[in-house]
Amino acid sequence: MSLSHLPQRVKLVDVGPRDGLQNEKQPVPAAVKIELVHRLQAAGLKHLEVTSFVSPKWVPQMADNTEVMAGLQRRPDVTYAVLTPNLKGYEAAVLSRPDEIVVFGAASEAFSQKNINCSIAESIERFAPVVEAARAAGIYVRGAMSCTVGCPYEGDIAPERVGMLAKLMKGIGVQHVGVADTIGVGTPIKVQRAMEATLAHYDLNDVSGHFHDTYGQALANTLAALEMGVWQFDTSVAGLGGCPYAKGATGNVATEDVVYLLQGLGIETGIDLDALVDAGAFISQALGRKPNSRVAVALLNKRAG
Ligand code: HMG
Ligand code: MG
Repeated sequence: MSLSHLPQRVKLVDVGPRDGLQNEKQPVPAAVKIELVHRLQAAGLKHLEVTSFVSPKWVPQMADNTEVMAGLQRRPDVTYAVLTPNLKGYEAAVLSRPDEIVVFGAASEAFSQKNINCSIAESIERFAPVVEAARAAGIYVRGAMSCTVGCPYEGDIAPERVGMLAKLMKGIGVQHVGVADTIGVGTPIKVQRAMEATLAHYDLNDVSGHFHDTYGQALANTLAALEMGVWQFDTSVAGLGGCPYAKGATGNVATEDVVYLLQGLGIETGIDLDALVDAGAFISQALGRKPNSRVAVALLNKRAG
């Protein structure tokens, strides 16, 4: 296998504090979330998705968004992103000075309705003023595209629908889009097709992968995207993650597993794997479970024995 065509560097956005913790049954104290962010940045993560400014009735775990943002000891070389589904969320978020905001839509109508209570077309209408305000304020705008491979309500999603959503996101000025396999049903070819549909509208440098690992395919899907030249990925420490509106979907691909893969491919990440494993052990202990990362468990066992 020739690896010469793979990207030489990869950017990882750890979404653990947001995607990872939004789905927990038990409340996670803000102090624990803040400590997690501090540990992740100490491990060398330069991009963190911290929280979301959504309705606390819909996602109670993120109700402490302002408190978490205010508690961060920020580093100038780290970007802190938050999710904003509408202008109300943006107006609350901007007071916390995020470096990036994320609007989040779906390639599936049914998921759009369940997750953000509106159609795809209505979601774009809601995002447009958010994007405009953020860009006027110099805040970078990412768009998450859910269900680009499969939907918990509609089943398989055709690549054309991903392309349609990417086009709509581009049309309102979203600068970067994440191709999300929300329920982790994708396999490499399907993920590549969703990526290709997106790349018809976005430059390779403005696209990332966001793969949940429900069916154990997320690392393979990551490699499949790397082979296309995609060099930006959302990952989640200790494999945390899930969406309250995607029942049965498990966590994102673990940051530890992706870092190990990249190290093995000779790709630079700037991340200290040992410190990352410690961060994952910290949050897993706080949640009362083992890290959902094969690499983390292997390294912790090696240390213990
Ligand atoms: P809605 O009920 O249609 O909104 O919800 P509304 O505008 O009719 O307002 C209803 C109430 O919500 C009002 O309050 C508003 O003030 C309030 P009330 O008068 O009843 O007291 N409200 C808000 N409060 C705080 N922040 C806001 C906000 N907006 C309205 N921003 C809404 C629409 C989008 C708000 C709702 O559906 C929602 O919060 N959804 C969030 C869903 C969510 O967070 N999902 C998880 C994140 S997405 C994800 O995980 C996928 C991703 O990881 C990629 C992947 O894997 O696919 C990104
Ligand atoms: Mg997700």
